[in-house]
Amino acid sequence: MGKIILTGDRPTGKLHVGHYVGSLKRRVQLQNTGDYDDIFIMIADAQALTDNSDNPEKVRQNIIEVALDYLACGLDPEKSTLFIQSQIPELCELSFYYMNLVTVSRLQRNPTVKSEIQMRKFEASIPVGFFTYPISQAADITAFKATTVPVGEDQLPMLEQTKEIVRKFNSVYGDTLVEPEILLPQNSACLRLPGTDGKAKMSKSLGNCIYLSEEPDMIKQKVFSMFTDPTHIRVEDPGKIEGNTVFTYLDAFSTPEHFEEFLPEYANLEELKEHYQRGGLGDMKVKRFLNNVIQAELEPIRNRRKEYQKDIPYVYEILKKGSEKAEEVAAKTLSEVKHSMKINYFEDMDLIREQSEKFKED
Ligand code: TRP
Repeated sequence: MGKIILTGDRPTGKLHVGHYVGSLKRRVQLQNTGDYDDIFIMIADAQALTDNSDNPEKVRQNIIEVALDYLACGLDPEKSTLFIQSQIPELCELSFYYMNLVTVSRLQRNPTVKSEIQMRKFEASIPVGFFTYPISQAADITAFKATTVPVGEDQLPMLEQTKEIVRKFNSVYGDTLVEPEILLPQNSACLRLPGTDGKAKMSKSLGNCIYLSEEPDMIKQKVFSMFTDPTHIRVEDPGKIEGNTVFTYLDAFSTPEHFEEFLPEYANLEELKEHYQRGGLGDMKVKRFLNNVIQAELEPIRNRRKEYQKDIPYVYEILKKGSEKAEEVAAKTLSEVKHSMKINYFEDMDLIREQSEKFKED
């Protein structure tokens, strides 16, 4: 059995640095190891519509934004298949059959769905499509026989649900589907990068995200207004690292090479942290360093994005080709699923023979 990656994002906005350290950067690294037989990266427009049904234009406009962000980060259409979820009708068909394997109460217990329902104030009026999106996500993953799903921590419950569906399917209908493994970011800062204001959730409406396509002066402005340690008032005061957004971002982004290049008086982040905690290190100096680090990381991404932006028809061509390839793979899995479920009547010679015999007796 090969090693196959499937992952994706909802197209509800441009991608930001949280997406980048949480998953995108890793995807590109995995792509470039050459260890995987196939890599599928999906723009989950159908899933985005489950809680944006009244705003299809938002989803429609953001497909290209996400595609550009993918290409800008270094996802290479020669190595990874980029595609659009809604263009693969087989995913709906798989979801429909998987629905029989999941109970309402199990869906109600899904922590991600639970918190999203609260966040969106759906409560008594939850759209059925939204409520069942973990099932459709299981279809996304299993359609490609994915072994590896690199995503953020918030997706853990989805992966659990997928595994349960796979086990249930295989035990009822015979071995057909592959159980996937989640691949989480290695370091805890990348697991949950806070907004620039220190709030746990990055969101467009809070204005606390740094986008991958952000221009240098905006990056600078956002870094310099970042939340730090409010009790660290004078440079000589000892400062706290915990909950200090600037240090969380440094945990996520900085490398020893960055120190060599931009802050050679410290060997690494540990030394910088020690100095800050001891006192005598001002916020401005740390922010200046973080700004250099993020600028260095985002500059090539922004430039590559601008190149792709010059040829939008080409980007759609990439998505179309990718969707065609993805559909072929999904169709093959669907046919195996129908075979296992014995709903492949016209190919089932045994059934036809058996029933011919049966009715001969009358
Ligand atoms: N739920 C993911 C998100 O909110 C998007 C997604 C849809 C996905 N289907 C998937 C991720 C399958 C990984 C695998 O961003």
